Amino acid sequence: MDSTSTCYGATIKYLVLILSIGSECSGVIRAQDNKSGLGASFIFGDSLVDSGNNNYLPTLSKANIPPNSCDFKGSGGNPTGRYTNGRTIADIVGEELGQPNYAVPFLAPNSTGKAILHGVNYASGGGGILNATGRIFINRLGMDIQIDYFNITRKQFDQLLGASKARDYIMKKSIFSVTIGANDFLNNYLLPLLSTGTRITQTPDSFIHDMINHLRDQLTRLYQLDARKFVVSNVGPIGCIPYQKSINQVNEDQCVDLPNKLAQQYNIRLEDLLSELNNDLPGATFVHANVYDLVMELITNYNQYGFETSSKACCGNGGQFAGIIPCGPTSSMCSDHSKYVFWDPYHPSEAANLLLAKQLLDGTDKRFISPMNLRQLRDLS
Ligand SMILES: *[C@@H]1O[C@H](CO)[C@@H](O)[C@H](O)[C@H]1NC(C)=O
Ligand SMILES: *[C@@H]1O[C@H](CO)[C@@H](O)[C@H](O)[C@H]1NC(C)=O
Ligand SMILES: *[C@@H]1O[C@H](CO)[C@@H](O)[C@H](O)[C@H]1NC(C)=O
Ligand SMILES: *[C@@H]1O[C@H](CO)[C@@H](O)[C@H](O)[C@H]1NC(C)=O
Repeated sequence: MDSTSTCYGATIKYLVLILSIGSECSGVIRAQDNKSGLGASFIFGDSLVDSGNNNYLPTLSKANIPPNSCDFKGSGGNPTGRYTNGRTIADIVGEELGQPNYAVPFLAPNSTGKAILHGVNYASGGGGILNATGRIFINRLGMDIQIDYFNITRKQFDQLLGASKARDYIMKKSIFSVTIGANDFLNNYLLPLLSTGTRITQTPDSFIHDMINHLRDQLTRLYQLDARKFVVSNVGPIGCIPYQKSINQVNEDQCVDLPNKLAQQYNIRLEDLLSELNNDLPGATFVHANVYDLVMELITNYNQYGFETSSKACCGNGGQFAGIIPCGPTSSMCSDHSKYVFWDPYHPSEAANLLLAKQLLDGTDKRFISPMNLRQLRDLS
């Protein structure tokens, strides 16, 4: 962990230079001391932010096997169900916004009583916006089901706090983060034989149109359940993950074109959707997190951020980038986890997550986080 913190401290100055983070270290520390702001964080999404829901599902998408979570202090390095070596972006954001505990996984036995007042995590490895996404894994929680589960949590808040206080707490003191969409491409559209028959002939435009329409309904349902402060991430450069680079056998400094093009096409539509919802849903704030460009910056200029590689997975096997066989007990492993942008064939390392989370929390460049950053979203009244 020490090497991670060192790496993190050392890279802040690069961020100031390259990503024009704006706020200085002193600002970061002052804000860290403010533990009063956030009520609950409700986390929706896929394996990028799953903190253990899939441990309770009969599914082929599992991360509760070593060496996953090997750098996670909260478990002493034992597997938690996180698809990375340490904290996810959602964990880090929660900590920085003043949460005493990580949001409990909805399916975990301890997601009851007062524990939920700090938030609940509904994210599930393999999940997507569309219901059919992730069928290859047999089981996973898609966005529709994640929101059905929040509807259950919402009623528990009424019981815990009383209807009027609960409404206030959820509207004013809670943040809803949504990190979804990558699996709709990786584990649906780009696997045509496993998708429904119509997919095979569906154009990217029409598929993305379906995704955006579903997401509009999903975000609107959350709004109907009193969600007001949202942060929605776009889809990252999925053509640059070690898995895609390995199966498509591209060069070290190349990414796979089609997945990146699909992500970019979706991301343009997502930005429009969030502006639309900011206009149409009174009192709601939708913050757009441009994870695509932030991750691309780390991948392109990895050496300036203290990484040794942005093409190879730290934990994985197969192909030139260790990107074919998922991370597990028999995988080969890199020695310094903090020197790899990618922990496994699909997911960023904790070191990368720390840099990305910092940008979402304190960034001032509207290209990456807009119309405000997450500390400002928390403090919005
Ligand atoms: C601490 O948080 C509260 C509530 O979010 C805010 O009003 C206050 O300005 C913050 N104080 C500092 C020093 O950041
Ligand atoms: C819930 O249980 C998990 C796994 O045992 C543990 O890591 C976590 O700290 C618990 N959270 C709360 C709020 O009790
Ligand atoms: C998605 O699946 C859930 C649960 O199986 C179901 O309730 C929901 O209606 C489905 N949504 C669509 C759009 O098919
Ligand atoms: C929440 O659940 C209730 C039933 O308990 C249902 O009537 C309502 O439509 C649900 N709300 C949303 C937004 O899904």
